[in-house]
Amino acid sequence: MSFTVAIDGPAASGKGTISRAIAEHFGFAYLDTGLLYRAVGKKAMGFDCNPKAAAKLARELTADDLAADDLRSAEVAEAASKIAPIPEVRAALIAFQKTFAKQPGGAVLDGRDIGTVICPEADVKMFVTASAQVRAHRRFKELTDKGEAITEAQVLADIQARDARDAGRDIAPMVAAIDALVLDTSAMSITQAIAAAVDVIGEKWPVGNG
Ligand code: CDP
Repeated sequence: MSFTVAIDGPAASGKGTISRAIAEHFGFAYLDTGLLYRAVGKKAMGFDCNPKAAAKLARELTADDLAADDLRSAEVAEAASKIAPIPEVRAALIAFQKTFAKQPGGAVLDGRDIGTVICPEADVKMFVTASAQVRAHRRFKELTDKGEAITEAQVLADIQARDARDAGRDIAPMVAAIDALVLDTSAMSITQAIAAAVDVIGEKWPVGNG
């Protein structure tokens, strides 16, 4: 039996941490769809990539590409959001995501367009958000803990530019699905945010609360 949890939201809203915790709690498979766009963006870096060439990069992604350890950098995030508006790139990545979502035993996917485009029929939809300042502070900690040399002001500027690109694009823009539960984690600890998400899913997951 398939059971799909769709989690969308802006950069550094906590959606990845919440999605991983949900997957672990309920035994679902987890797909961080941002990694697909990051991996394509990384390959396209330094090229003046036309849509056809970018779509080819997307079609040829391998498991190794997704395992690269530098995909989480600020530079790759920016490259990802630049190839993400290309319709041919998004089209090349749809089938894999839809198949992943339908696997038996349940799946959680996080991204920008999961509840609206990839899984409009998802069993649970959430839109996880937080103020830009709170998100920038979290992301700044994450990046500097990994040794990246960046200021918090730069992280905030990057996040705001990326949010504007992601929400403003014509195709699959970042937006809460009308039937998504909006979870604002600005004033929540990560433990509280996870508990809130687990409660919402536990009410719908027919197998029981984990
Ligand atoms: O971790 P963070 O929220 O900062 O970013 P991410 O989820 O890894 O996504 C990186 C970029 O990929 C986003 O800024 C979007 O431009 C793009 N993306 C997308 O367009 N659609 C998705 N389903 C996931 C990511």
